[in-house]
Amino acid sequence: MKKLSIYILLLTFISSLTIAAEVNIFNARHYKADAELYSKFTNKTGIKVNLINGKAGALEKRMIEEGSDSSADLYITADAGRCGAFKAKGMTQGGLTSPAIKAAVPSNFRTTHWTGIAKRARIVYYAPDRVSGAELSGLTYESLADPKWKGRLVIRKSSNIYNKSLVASLVKNNGKKATAEWAKGVVANMARTPTGNDRAQIMAVAAGEADIAVANTYYLALMLSGNKGAEQQAAAKKVKAFFPNQNDRGTHMNISCAALVKGAPNKANAIKLVEFLLTPESQEHFTNNTFEFPMIDGVSPSPLVVNNIGLDFKQDLKTKVSSYGAKQADALEVMTAAGWK
Ligand SMILES: [Fe+2]
Repeated sequence: MKKLSIYILLLTFISSLTIAAEVNIFNARHYKADAELYSKFTNKTGIKVNLINGKAGALEKRMIEEGSDSSADLYITADAGRCGAFKAKGMTQGGLTSPAIKAAVPSNFRTTHWTGIAKRARIVYYAPDRVSGAELSGLTYESLADPKWKGRLVIRKSSNIYNKSLVASLVKNNGKKATAEWAKGVVANMARTPTGNDRAQIMAVAAGEADIAVANTYYLALMLSGNKGAEQQAAAKKVKAFFPNQNDRGTHMNISCAALVKGAPNKANAIKLVEFLLTPESQEHFTNNTFEFPMIDGVSPSPLVVNNIGLDFKQDLKTKVSSYGAKQADALEVMTAAGWK
């Protein structure tokens, strides 16, 4: 009888060890496809993935409020500006320094606290029937302030994180004063008060409300895929993609990022998961489902991206994406001062 109870105790202990193999992701990426990827990770490693889905702001607030009681191991979200700002709040820790991570991700797309897991470019879309090749030639983010675009440009609100990061990169490269002047020029060129998401800007160009729009690369592919309906698919076919700043530092790049949360109860498992997200298998899964660019070499983007946006462009690899968080406050300040809604 005594032997049996010791045996039961032992079994309970072993099973509790098995249950302990888990990792908790606070996930602001709203892609169904990501969940499939996490199941693959569990099948491979036996590590259970607990997904806590939500909007970036709500998840960040929750982690900050829970403090050291939080179960969060990894925070996965879009935009280096978000990961950078979260780190600046003291909410992350170092540890993403394994040889696998360092080999996979170029140093300008990671810090020791957070790393890129997929890439995107913020580019210009134009109406080919209303914008000539000569007008586009040599176009830069800087030249979006040129009066020749007066009443012809659409871009979303200044509160949007993609815009904050783009403008932060301009502050980093050109200084705050020059960027403040630039923001005034951009606002003067707007065809309408900023409204809607990135896809809405592409729709506005397709509908003739504007001639050029600023939006991320994956949105055009998403619209062309038909996943957003026939109307958006038809609109996407009416615009063309242009990569700014090809004659100088290159096109503004951004990332989806994974941040190691301070006090993560399952730190080792979190690092393993990040390494898994950077394998060719996971990267292919990202590119085919979210239409982002891969973070690693040797994986092709979706054919929708390759054929309609293109691969053969100069990326800005000089501006570290960690500067987007660092210059975020300056970026918002100059946009707001310029009357950018
Ligand atoms: Fe997005």
